[in-house]
Amino acid sequence: MATKKIDPAKGKGASAGGKPAPSRGNMLQSNLSAESEDSIDDEGNFEGLMNPGFDAERDDRELSLRPKSLGEFLGQERLKENLAIFIKAARDRGEAMDHLFLVGPPGLGKTTLAQVVANELGVEWKPTSAPALDKPKDLAGILTTLKENAVLFIDEIHRLKPAIEEMLYIAMEDFELDWIIGQGPSARTVRIPLPHFTLIGATTKPGAVSSPLASRFGISLRFGYYEAKELEAIVRRSADILGVAVDDVAAGLLGASSRGTPRIANRLLRRMRDFAQVDSEGRFEAKGRITRDVVVAGLERLEVDSLGLEKMDREILRAIISRYAGGPVGAETLAISVGEGVDGLEDYYEPYLIQAGLLARTPRGRVVTAAAYAHLRMEQKSEDGRLQF
Ligand SMILES: Nc1ncnc2c1ncn2[C@@H]1O[C@H](COP(=O)(O)OP(=O)(O)OP(=O)(O)O)[C@@H](O)[C@H]1O
Ligand SMILES: [Mg+2]
Repeated sequence: MATKKIDPAKGKGASAGGKPAPSRGNMLQSNLSAESEDSIDDEGNFEGLMNPGFDAERDDRELSLRPKSLGEFLGQERLKENLAIFIKAARDRGEAMDHLFLVGPPGLGKTTLAQVVANELGVEWKPTSAPALDKPKDLAGILTTLKENAVLFIDEIHRLKPAIEEMLYIAMEDFELDWIIGQGPSARTVRIPLPHFTLIGATTKPGAVSSPLASRFGISLRFGYYEAKELEAIVRRSADILGVAVDDVAAGLLGASSRGTPRIANRLLRRMRDFAQVDSEGRFEAKGRITRDVVVAGLERLEVDSLGLEKMDREILRAIISRYAGGPVGAETLAISVGEGVDGLEDYYEPYLIQAGLLARTPRGRVVTAAAYAHLRMEQKSEDGRLQF
């Protein structure tokens, strides 16, 4: 059997392609300490810390923080309510749940939720990812060995090869497989029956998924960024699991600074734990406890501001304001002027800046909002150069 068990979090480094990992300069893979898994660059900046797509495979420790049940999966309330009904219905009927399509930016919990669904359904969990499915036989090997009603999870489903995608259409609809035996004139196709299964496909790029594939999912759920309060709850839960004490104000600050993203909340929490523990200058008297002072100093050190913006976010906004009078400016031009790839800009930075109300996409290009001027404490000038109030 050509099946490999693949950790869906693997293979998503900055150079892995499909992920919106920003193409930032030279990344020096030096470790801060045995405890730190984020890399720092020449200037001592924490490259990738705030980028949920960056080097996710090094976040193995996330596994222990990963919720196992719907109850542990915090936030995304509406999405969970619907899902709970579909899960219960499938369970009660003893059938496979309808195929499920999960869409949303990196680090919001798509893989986690897929696994939760398998747990709640009480069925086999079989994870793989589109880049790992190279030949049709790779997919056939997985499909034919699934247990009845299993959950097959395909991560980065926008990256499926056409031949594999076509095999998947028939499997999803008819739970059968067309397999060609032999070669040349004697070749013939046999239909192999498959066990019933639930396909869960996840993607950060729904626009890149073909419509025949998208239309074969019975349920489609879109993740939105998390509220600060939800992230605060996630920080508390993770702190409990890691066995580290976090003050209320500190948890609140971390929740608000996590870019709406649980993966970042967990990463920031671990960095703050380092700062609280090491505290080499004895500044905090924290004794390992994550206090407000630890978080304020820690976020400053990491150059993360009160809205969870990192340096590049601020550079993008500043570039639009100072070089393009607040916009509109096209994505390509903007990307070049901040030394970033268009993919990284569009898939990673912009969605959060838009959600935070700092940036708007218009048909003529990107424009910053009044809130961006206020956040950066920059003055907004009108056409004639006068200040606007
Ligand atoms: N709702 C949640 N409650 C608590 N923790 C969460 C939640 N969602 C995600 N997490 C945490 O965030 C981490 C990242 O989530 P996950 O790997 O599922 O994201 P993803 O959407 O699959 O990202 P990618 O697009 O990069 O694959 C998880 O390991 C988990 O610890
Ligand atoms: Mg994932």
